[in-house]
Amino acid sequence: MNTFDQFRLDGARALVTGASRGIGKAVAEALAEAGADIAVSARTSAALEQTVRAVEDRGGKAIAVAGDLAVAGTAADVVDHAAAALGGLDIVVHNAGTLPTTDDGAPLLLPLQATRQEDWDSVLGTNLNATAAICRAAHPHLAESDRASLVLMSSVAGLVGTPMLDAYAASKAAQLSLMRSLAVGWARQGIRVNALCPGWTRTDMTAFASGTGPLSDWLMSHVPMGRWAEASEIAPAAVFLASPASSFVTGHALVIDGGLAVPDGGLAGIPKPASPFAAV
Ligand SMILES: NC(=O)c1ccc[n+]([C@@H]2O[C@H](COP(=O)([O-])OP(=O)(O)OC[C@H]3O[C@@H](n4cnc5c(N)ncnc54)[C@H](OP(=O)(O)O)[C@@H]3O)[C@@H](O)[C@H]2O)c1
Repeated sequence: MNTFDQFRLDGARALVTGASRGIGKAVAEALAEAGADIAVSARTSAALEQTVRAVEDRGGKAIAVAGDLAVAGTAADVVDHAAAALGGLDIVVHNAGTLPTTDDGAPLLLPLQATRQEDWDSVLGTNLNATAAICRAAHPHLAESDRASLVLMSSVAGLVGTPMLDAYAASKAAQLSLMRSLAVGWARQGIRVNALCPGWTRTDMTAFASGTGPLSDWLMSHVPMGRWAEASEIAPAAVFLASPASSFVTGHALVIDGGLAVPDGGLAGIPKPASPFAAV
């Protein structure tokens, strides 16, 4: 197989969660471009149908499986439904995730000491408990595949201190721990398990910060490359981890963050404006 052919996914059967928009939608489109058939999942059926059409436009087969992963039992239903519709699963990209939010959906940025237990539980429920449930449900299907790859969408927040988003960061670090345990535990069953750690990426999740203004300027002052990522810059890494191009890669957290997680010790001299959170 030549080098570029190793990135092909022809005939592969993939589930992408959180694929109604943002990074998950870009991943579903990229896997389809590489040749995979895709099951896409999220809560919002209408938006999922748009992803289905985007996948079909790229020549792939796509089906939508709606479900709220915060509800116990949904993960198994989603995985089993996807496997039944596609005739098995070779690839699972578990990307669905959330920031803590207020009741009206606005992001809740608070230090731990001001975080209510129910908000902590809500974030851990969606980001960590659902991850475990997806992995548990995916295992029997991936074990049947001779090209099995599980990819968890973690975050650079799981690697570096992320005050004001403590629960989110803890959930993303726990995903990395689970990824490493599964990579070792499932290696002899032929299932590779890896994670992606995006940095600040322009999506609905980050719309509160990604416009022009002091918060965006302050966040970007901590990114050596000095800009936001687009979802389309994250998706190719999912193709790599899902494909034979990464056939000897397991237990790896691939960081895509414009240099955010690289400690510069201040020596780079990148100017940092005052923190908008300084008073909190
Ligand atoms: N954007 C960033 O800067 C960034 C950086 C690092 C990591 N990430 C991670 O990347 C992943 C995707 O983020 P994004 O920025 O693309 O976010 P997004 O635009 O808010 O999309 C989140 C996706 O997850 C789905 N989802 C959320 N809660 C769900 C639930 N309870 N059940 C089922 N599906 C659910 C959403 O669909 P519905 O609302 O239709 O359910 C949507 O498809 C997340 O895991 C996030 O933590 C993002």
